[in-house]
Amino acid sequence: MAKETPPSQEEKKPVSRREFLNFAWLASLGFLSLSVAGMSYLFAMPRFKEGEFGGMYTVGTVADLPETGSAPENYPKVKFWLSNTDQGALAIYKVCTHLGCLYNWVNQENKFICPCHGSQFTSEGQYIQGPAPRSLDRFVMQIVDPASGEVLAQTDESGDPLPIPDDPAAIVRVDTGARIQGEPHG
Ligand code: FES
Repeated sequence: MAKETPPSQEEKKPVSRREFLNFAWLASLGFLSLSVAGMSYLFAMPRFKEGEFGGMYTVGTVADLPETGSAPENYPKVKFWLSNTDQGALAIYKVCTHLGCLYNWVNQENKFICPCHGSQFTSEGQYIQGPAPRSLDRFVMQIVDPASGEVLAQTDESGDPLPIPDDPAAIVRVDTGARIQGEPHG
């Protein structure tokens, strides 16, 4: 009886150096395209969400503001103190301008006092005494028309208090991504 011969196996051709280099080049090109697409997507995304520290935070309406001349109100989640003064409202960054401690409002003393090295500031964030090199930093505040969403007024570059309009329904918000450095003293 005749023996069946096994089917001939296909000969495996070794990959040439040129083919290998072509493959490697295409693979790195694909990887590069994916990386560029990923980076573009990340850059296109807003860095901070609304309502978080680093983004725009809506305090409420003019009617929700603390009374003029009352103790500053603490907004720990978005890291500022809201001070409503005779000249207008201020959103004061919670971090001491000396070495970055969190200072507190002390009612009995009627001023901000830093527990780390004792720097003191007025309710407007103005330097009084201590090792801090400058007054406290402030965030840009905005008054927004509740119907149209149009920005009616905004803190200027000097960081002066923002006058509050009579309209109790006007929206007050703070841009915690826009910080204005306090004035150096001495
Ligand atoms: S960190 Fe506030 S006084 Fe030093």
